Amino acid sequence: MRPVAGKNPSLLAPSILAGDHGDLRKSTQEVENLGLRWLHLDIMDGHFVPNLTFGPATVAALRKDSQLFFDVHLMLANPDAFIEPFAEAGADLISFHIEAPVDHRKVLQQIADRDCQKGLVINPGTAPESVYPYLSSIDLLLVMTVQPGFGGQSFKEEMIRKIRKIHQWRLDNNHLFRLEVDGGIDMETAKRCAEAGADTFVAGTAFFKSAEKEKFIDTVESLS
Ligand code: DX5
Ligand code: ZN
Repeated sequence: MRPVAGKNPSLLAPSILAGDHGDLRKSTQEVENLGLRWLHLDIMDGHFVPNLTFGPATVAALRKDSQLFFDVHLMLANPDAFIEPFAEAGADLISFHIEAPVDHRKVLQQIADRDCQKGLVINPGTAPESVYPYLSSIDLLLVMTVQPGFGGQSFKEEMIRKIRKIHQWRLDNNHLFRLEVDGGIDMETAKRCAEAGADTFVAGTAFFKSAEKEKFIDTVESLS
């Protein structure tokens, strides 16, 4: 496939949500041993989304034994209260939702003040125009391709248009942020998202349950 102009090199970020919750260190090491560089960590509060995961103490424990880039996705109603703890725990990038009722500029500044990369996340039902004003101020834009809260859901095909639109804005304005997709990503859906402009692929179920992890990695890396 021909590279899409204006994109960053493609990378796969396995979501530890689909790892072994009795031994998250083992799942993290598995990702690292395969030569991958990113790990996606889903933080849920049981309020902004109808599920719970883990907090900063778990991230700090994984950080002790890992050199991976920690891509921390906050699904929280009050991300402003948790930037400091997750930065302290060793997050490299922190993303939070445009739907969270906070002062987004202030939270982006909080993340920058902690020398972390800054990410914004947009849910399937939210119009892409809502993130437009922030595109010059972020390192990553995460387009949810399922309703967040649970792994193992089906990819929402109608998100392709949103990815294409945001990628076009990125080209038009020479922005450099990564365009990440999350939810129902497997080898096939990753290809379709890449054609629309995505360059960063979160995969939980399809990665951890796969018997062909190397093939998955090669496929995603060839999407550059
Ligand atoms: C969904 C999470 C995802 C999840 C993706 O709320 O944000 O990161 O782990 O899981 P799969 O790849 O199984 O759809
Ligand atoms: Zn996620």
